[in-house]
Amino acid sequence: MADLQAIVDDIHAALLPRLGEGAVADYIPQLAKVDPKQLGLAIVTTDGDINIAGDAGTQFSIQSISKVFMLTLALGKVGEQLWNRVGREPSGSAFNSIVQLEHEHGIPRNPFINAGAIAVSDVVLSGHQPREAIGELLQFVRYVADDETISIDESVARSETSTGYRNFALANFMRAFGNLHHPVEHVLGVYFHQCAVSMNCVQLAKAGLYLAARGTNPLTGHSVVSPKRARRINALMLTCGHYDGSGDFAYRVGLPGKSGVGGGILAVAPGIASIAVWSPGLNKVGNSLLGSAALEMLAARTGWSVFDM
Ligand code: DON
Repeated sequence: MADLQAIVDDIHAALLPRLGEGAVADYIPQLAKVDPKQLGLAIVTTDGDINIAGDAGTQFSIQSISKVFMLTLALGKVGEQLWNRVGREPSGSAFNSIVQLEHEHGIPRNPFINAGAIAVSDVVLSGHQPREAIGELLQFVRYVADDETISIDESVARSETSTGYRNFALANFMRAFGNLHHPVEHVLGVYFHQCAVSMNCVQLAKAGLYLAARGTNPLTGHSVVSPKRARRINALMLTCGHYDGSGDFAYRVGLPGKSGVGGGILAVAPGIASIAVWSPGLNKVGNSLLGSAALEMLAARTGWSVFDM
């Protein structure tokens, strides 16, 4: 295998002069306070090698990356029936868009746009109090990352609750169509807390390893999902994981990936590695600008694009 440490060091050095490019998400007040001049990279291979650079040990808000873990939990709970509540097609719209929902009768296009993720949270909430569903997610993330220290940043959850007007609109709209089965406040309580999980790049890359290794974390031996389910989650990440930037991400990087407005991206090189990058400045569609650039450079240097195989 290529010298991954040299590669991550090179990428970090090449991007250092660009630190601060892009715009930090400011519609969640707590995220607006994050110093934009940070960049972390972590690669965890399926053989257990870990290569890091920059701010790979700094905690950040995983935001929409949590949607991958909630999707995994929801599929575990209701299996393929989930697809009666949410679609599997790229939306071509912004992550918080409401327009398609009316045309499509309250069934969101995919589980990664906000409306889809809120429906998924409703599924995970079933049979639980909101506190228990949040606990289930946190326990799951700790299990897949094999790290009991991972926690939720309550100040981020509160900050988003007080300004989450669009998410309340989306949730109320879906409730009107009968596609939310629990009170809007409960579902969004779960959703805002899952988005507020704090992790660093190393923890996040470890957490994604089951997707790179046919559903089983090769470091712990924990079986998380079947190989078929891991393949399908990766397919959704490739086609829908970057919202209306998904085509461009596939073109430039060629790996299943999921972004968050905290500036993190989890990317999966199937059979090879799980990769986490973080830099808070976002591009126009809400994906980390330097994080995407780092992954583009990584894919070019390693040949890990799924289209290179
Ligand atoms: O619902 C929101 O607006 C945020 N909690 C999450 C959005 C997000 O991360 C979109 N990703 N790029």
